[in-house]
Amino acid sequence: MLTHITTVSFSPTGQTEQLVRQFGEALAKRFQAEGVTLSHTSFTLPEDQDIFRFYGPDTLVIFGTPTYAGRIPNKALPFVQQLFAGDEKQKTPAVALVTFGNRAYDSALTELRDELEKKDFRVFAAGAFAAAHAFAAIGKEHPTTEDKKTFEDLLDAVERKLRGKAPLETVVIRDNAPVAPYYIPKGEDGQPAKFLKAKPKTDPEKCDHCGKCATVCPMGSINPADTDKVPGICIKCQACIKYCPKKAKYFDDPRFLSHKAMLEKNYTRTAPSEIFY
Ligand SMILES: Cc1cc2nc3c(=O)[nH]c(=O)nc-3n(C[C@H](O)[C@H](O)[C@H](O)COP(=O)(O)O)c2cc1C
Ligand code: SF4
Ligand code: SF4
Repeated sequence: MLTHITTVSFSPTGQTEQLVRQFGEALAKRFQAEGVTLSHTSFTLPEDQDIFRFYGPDTLVIFGTPTYAGRIPNKALPFVQQLFAGDEKQKTPAVALVTFGNRAYDSALTELRDELEKKDFRVFAAGAFAAAHAFAAIGKEHPTTEDKKTFEDLLDAVERKLRGKAPLETVVIRDNAPVAPYYIPKGEDGQPAKFLKAKPKTDPEKCDHCGKCATVCPMGSINPADTDKVPGICIKCQACIKYCPKKAKYFDDPRFLSHKAMLEKNYTRTAPSEIFY
């Protein structure tokens, strides 16, 4: 019997967290009369990346990650694999949600479903929601009226399944196509743009050393004592850029900028959100 709903997200720039929270809140409202409670969990920041969480079969988990290179962000994958588990025997019900920045979600949703199923969750519904791109100026129109309708349709389906008598079954996503290799970012010339080593820089004229950027980096990679320095790995998530109050952080890697320009040229159409149940 459903007694609790929890949302779980990895969300450097906040869009995925907003999506799973809205979904959890809307669903909890529909089960309010039954006394179903709601909580939220994040594994975005380093301090939340070493807490193991087990969810029993009476909890519904709404689990969300962004799409990076057509997959779950590769540095967030170990957290999905190691920090969360459902009930081995009864399987804990889960809804998998991903956001993507108006290009494509490729295999991200399938990968999230598969990883959660390996950890004893029963992923019976899933959705890929188009959003603004974290570093390219595309997808700002989301959520569109159509996205909002898709969101409501998924809510209806999840509620129906939870109230139904039939056992919850693993959702089929895109005819169960297997997870594909990572998308290779391309530059304006159509050639692979290799910017794995790119890191953000800081404009000394603008930075007032407030330290905010170091506190929002999911990889804990910015030196808090000297925020110009990024000794750790950078996943290009843009959290430091988005949350810097002085707009002092920027990327100037030419290959990264060429990929951004390519996206802004080729992915201006409004990508649809898609749901599966
Ligand atoms: C490193 C990186 C790679 C990304 N790759 C993709 C992609 O393959 N397809 C896509 O449509 N959007 C891509 N995006 C955009 C994000 O999926 C999108 O902006 C997402 O909503 C960000 O989630 P957040 O706000 O929870 O951090 C990428 C963003 C980043 C930072
Ligand atoms: S958040 Fe911006 S202003 Fe504050 S230390 Fe970082 S770069 Fe400087
Ligand atoms: S340094 Fe890289 S990983 Fe850290 S917040 Fe900035 S863009 Fe994200």
